[in-house]
Amino acid sequence: MTKQKWVLGNWKMNGRLAANQALLSQLSQIQEHEHVAVGVAVPSVYISSALQAAAPTLVGAEDVSLYANDGAYTGEVSAAMLADVGAQFVLIGHSERRQYFAEDEAVLAQKYANAVAAGVLPVLCVGETLAEREAGQAEAVVAKQLNLLQAATLLKQTVLVAYEPVWAIGTGVVASIEQIAQMHAFIQQHVLSLLNNDASIRLLYGGSVNADNCAAIFAVEHVDGALVGGASLKYDSFAQIITAAT
Ligand code: G3H
Repeated sequence: MTKQKWVLGNWKMNGRLAANQALLSQLSQIQEHEHVAVGVAVPSVYISSALQAAAPTLVGAEDVSLYANDGAYTGEVSAAMLADVGAQFVLIGHSERRQYFAEDEAVLAQKYANAVAAGVLPVLCVGETLAEREAGQAEAVVAKQLNLLQAATLLKQTVLVAYEPVWAIGTGVVASIEQIAQMHAFIQQHVLSLLNNDASIRLLYGGSVNADNCAAIFAVEHVDGALVGGASLKYDSFAQIITAAT
């Protein structure tokens, strides 16, 4: 799974069986590229059906339980269950989980560790709010969010991080090329120091990525792909983003 570029969609709480199948069957027609991994994170209820329709597109989960394996945790889906149905990756710490479900660093560290233990590739999402950026805290906030990657020393595979400034998510306001370049360089250096330079790192940018702005974003140093929300829900825009990465 150590591809050079990664283009991941995040469907969030969108989709219905018939529409999912139609979109995935179009995506499955895209020729697999030697250097580009393409995937979609889907609501957990749709993972199994998506896996049947999606190959070679990867299918992942948008979240995983804090609790490992099995137990009396009504409504939860464990990392072991994700692995059991074949989910290939899982988003950890998306800003909507942090904001709406009060997921803090301790919770996310446990979720990350659960994914690692189950063999499901975690994609750690980090990013500052507008207030934090305006207060000059962007790098400090992101550094704190990256600290749980020390658990990734257990991983002997690619470390995937998605930098998604909260103010750019679903707003149509994309971070500037300078902002992306600066933060990705910072994340690259910080993760390498956390992991004692012993990691293969892929850094994705997320936040209002679309067919028009993706090429300029992919040209930035240390941008190894994108985590795409809204534009991943339509074949044409997602396919154009995938093409721009190849
Ligand atoms: O996970 C994806 C991000 O939240 C970006 O969403 O592309 O709709 O801004 P967006």
